[in-house]
Amino acid sequence: MSKLKNKVTVVTGGNSGIGFGIAEAFKNEGAVGAITGRNEKTLNHAVEILGNNFISIPGDVTNADDLENTFKKTFEKFGKIDALVVNAGGIVDGVPLGTIDTVTEENYDSYMDLNLKSAYFTVQKSLPYLNDGASIILIGSSAAHRAAPGMAIYSAAKAAIISLAKGLSLDLLPRKIRVNTLSPGSIDTPVFGKIVPEEQLAQVKQLWIDITPVGRQGLPSDIGNAAVFLASDESAFIVGTEILSDGGLTNISLMK
Ligand SMILES: NC(=O)c1ccc[n+]([C@@H]2O[C@H](COP(=O)([O-])OP(=O)(O)OC[C@H]3O[C@@H](n4cnc5c(N)ncnc54)[C@H](OP(=O)(O)O)[C@@H]3O)[C@@H](O)[C@H]2O)c1
Repeated sequence: MSKLKNKVTVVTGGNSGIGFGIAEAFKNEGAVGAITGRNEKTLNHAVEILGNNFISIPGDVTNADDLENTFKKTFEKFGKIDALVVNAGGIVDGVPLGTIDTVTEENYDSYMDLNLKSAYFTVQKSLPYLNDGASIILIGSSAAHRAAPGMAIYSAAKAAIISLAKGLSLDLLPRKIRVNTLSPGSIDTPVFGKIVPEEQLAQVKQLWIDITPVGRQGLPSDIGNAAVFLASDESAFIVGTEILSDGGLTNISLMK
């Protein structure tokens, strides 16, 4: 109930799926802070559930001014920032993923902008406001380790996130700011509705369950629990590395 007591947190993309699961887990452990996203309706709804200790700050993570505004507003409200979760990402609205014969340069750039560039600049823009000793959690993906159809660019962006956690931890050593990657496997969130039509949703989710050794999709709360650990002082000796929360998807084969 109090692993994050008095900690001020920022979760980008905290209005949906994994980000909301992380914000809820943070709240349950006594944290306060801000969630961000572009959709004001889902932001308001999320804050209603999270309660008075959380505020919502609308913004696009691919926009430098919006990022600056996020950290400025959080700092003005709470006076410090102890933990940052760089979670916003995934599917670019209206832009299909695909195999190399179908992807345009524009599509490539939009996926890299959302899933890699925005993560780098989210961290950069947070730095003037972050406490020394803060924890930064980058949301990666098991996709960085295991190819899936049409996902090459997304997977490459997430692989680069794992590398960023190492390089940025080195850059930030003088301030004792730890940067780690938390990589989910297949997690049951609204993202699937952005990729496949409603009538195929159950079938696609079942495909993921079939290849996940623990026999289920993860829940946003599974990622939330791991994020609590990385944001807390219990993980003080963990820096520049990756934690997989994927039900064994990456490292265990079910082949008989
Ligand atoms: N679900 C999985 O199986 C899975 C597995 C591995 C990794 N991940 C990663 O986990 C993270 C969250 O994914 P999810 O499954 O929770 O998906 P989701 O439910 O679609 O949530 C995506 C979040 O990112 C925000 N977002 C997207 N584009 C944005 C932009 N340009 N500016 C600001 N916010 C933006 C969305 O808010 P708005 O739409 O309001 O902007 C939303 O809050 C992503 O980084 C994803 O790559 C997911």
